[in-house]
Amino acid sequence: MYKIAVIPGDGTGPEVAREGVKVLEAIAGVAGFDYDTRFFAYGGDRYLETGVVLDDEELEELRAFDAIFLGAIGHPGVKPGILEQGILLRIRFALDQYINLRPVKLFPGVDCPLKDKGPEDIDFVVVRENTEGLYAGTGGFLRKGTPEEVAVQESVNTRKGVERCLRFAYEYCRRRDRDRKLTLCGKTNVLTYAWDLWERTFEELAPEYPDIATDYAHVDAICMWFVKNPEWFDVVVTDNMFGDIITDLGAMIQGGMGIAAGGNINPEGTSMFEPIGGSAPKYTGKDVINPLAAICAVQMMLDHLEERSAADRVERAVIRVCSRDLESLSAGRMGKSTSEVGDLVVKYIKEE
Ligand code: IPM
Ligand code: MN
Repeated sequence: MYKIAVIPGDGTGPEVAREGVKVLEAIAGVAGFDYDTRFFAYGGDRYLETGVVLDDEELEELRAFDAIFLGAIGHPGVKPGILEQGILLRIRFALDQYINLRPVKLFPGVDCPLKDKGPEDIDFVVVRENTEGLYAGTGGFLRKGTPEEVAVQESVNTRKGVERCLRFAYEYCRRRDRDRKLTLCGKTNVLTYAWDLWERTFEELAPEYPDIATDYAHVDAICMWFVKNPEWFDVVVTDNMFGDIITDLGAMIQGGMGIAAGGNINPEGTSMFEPIGGSAPKYTGKDVINPLAAICAVQMMLDHLEERSAADRVERAVIRVCSRDLESLSAGRMGKSTSEVGDLVVKYIKEE
């Protein structure tokens, strides 16, 4: 029996989370596993009503779950940063979800903005460090508000944090067993302290993984290669900030935010799965937002729970929807409503 915490969140989060839960119910029925969901109303509306973002007790409660499924966080009525830091980043940090796993996979039937690239060219995974770097929150102001003001924002990279992230990436690359190629994405030519540590650790671990080929790309160059030669990549490992940026680019080449999912992973604890697109407030309640990213997040959650055949079955259903039923994802047109897309995924799961 899997205990799943569901945080529908803000904006279109509840709509896409609803479709994700619908798919979870369908796949559990046919794959034969049991689960129990508990819903938590954390997000902008609750904050505006009660002034509470996420308190310590609520955070502790989440540890008892096998996984967390999150819709989206971000509310137009709340100053940017409060909810993102108070809910999303707080959970990532407190539950030590030190990996942000973001597959970039172009499904058949999804149109790709890259000329002459198809599903065989775009299938890689970004392993983003998820608890350190520029996100650590260290730094400060000097002489704030004066013409001489100084703002410092520091990137924190610990040997432990870097090593566990790199080790996860090597292991993941091995388990994925595709090209067995791991690319470190950094900026060794300029950020010579942080990336020296990353590169040294990357090279130190390499002999433990003789079956994995290693490669390196600067972060700016990788943005170019993702567009020009995405087929070069199998697993890419990088820090928190670079991972944040390059995975938005990755999402676009796989068909857009409507399809991109991610997992905030603590291999020894509670992990959290989410569509990476955000709360899209202007589409709230309109039943137009694409739920496939949330459904792919459910697929990742099943994979993480080692319900691999169930996860594959969800993916096959998503691919069927993409190749038969949707109009143009990269142009942001589905030609179907949010709930219709969820219903189709359920139908294909059951039909198989
Ligand atoms: C993401 C988001 C978050 C991040 C924001 C909302 C804090 O952009 O999950 O990529 O920067 O990590
Ligand atoms: Mn982001």
